[in-house]
Amino acid sequence: MDSNPQLLLVGCGKMGSALLDGWLESGTAPDTVTIIEPGPTPKVAAGVTVITDLSELAIEATANIVVFAVKPQVMDQVVPAYSRFTGPDTVFLSIAAGKTIGFFENLLGDQAAGEGPSIVRAMPNTPAAVGRGISVCVGNSAVTDQQMNACRELLSAVGEVAVIDDEAQMDAVTAVSGSGPAYVFLLTECLARAGVEAGLPSDLAAELARATVSGSGGLLDAADDSPETLRQNVTSPGGTTAAALDVLMAEGGLDALMTRAVTAATARSRELAG
Ligand SMILES: NC(=O)c1ccc[n+]([C@@H]2O[C@H](COP(=O)([O-])OP(=O)(O)OC[C@H]3O[C@@H](n4cnc5c(N)ncnc54)[C@H](OP(=O)(O)O)[C@@H]3O)[C@@H](O)[C@H]2O)c1
Repeated sequence: MDSNPQLLLVGCGKMGSALLDGWLESGTAPDTVTIIEPGPTPKVAAGVTVITDLSELAIEATANIVVFAVKPQVMDQVVPAYSRFTGPDTVFLSIAAGKTIGFFENLLGDQAAGEGPSIVRAMPNTPAAVGRGISVCVGNSAVTDQQMNACRELLSAVGEVAVIDDEAQMDAVTAVSGSGPAYVFLLTECLARAGVEAGLPSDLAAELARATVSGSGGLLDAADDSPETLRQNVTSPGGTTAAALDVLMAEGGLDALMTRAVTAATARSRELAG
């Protein structure tokens, strides 16, 4: 693949614009990026081309990477027009929750050469908006190492990237890292409410909960220790933390609750994929 690949970003909403910002910050040349966005014109760096519909793009225009960042529910209306790019020099990268590689192969596969389209399916998460996301990706057999590396590089502009071989794991990935930020935000809400129950004014409880969760995230990120060691480091035998952990770690406590939650999200992801 070209060392300066031509990028088409289809959809520049929350996730698309986070990706775009990350690419430009990490040195992607603006004149290699074209955005297709029918909504309000996104504010973009000089040199980036913005159009509202694919029909505005010259018919001879090529793209090395087409990134689909529209909502999953409009994907089947949006994707077919992009089959004009299907070919050995183009990889399609989807960040849509629940849309399988097979879904994209069906919509993009009618290629004269008879070779299937290169598809990479990725699952990012919302901390991508602050460059702290994690994306997991899986490609079909048509994806070359070079194409996978290029997709990896694009996703690494907004955080960490893991590559898996088995698409079936994407449902559990969605349940852990895709939906995971919501669990952490809920934990923050619960901690604040519990602080109010324990006698704190609500604004102080909210501030303490927020700073504690984000500070612990920062510590987890910076430290080489495992979460278990970090937990043990703040737990003196017979102390206050130990009293709370006795409740959280009792049978049927947080571990069991989290397992049930992740199991439910995995099952729902499987259902949505059909
Ligand atoms: N946000 C997350 O937490 C998250 C996490 C992981 C994965 N994802 C995935 O990321 C994708 C985008 O999500 P999002 O939250 O960024 O959604 P979003 O903010 O609604 O962005 C989607 C954008 O696509 C535009 N669009 C609609 N039809 C289009 C078309 N025909 N051609 C080009 N653009 C079109 C929309 O414009 P209009 O508003 O005018 O319709 C909107 O600006 C989804 O597939 C989602 O599953 C999101």
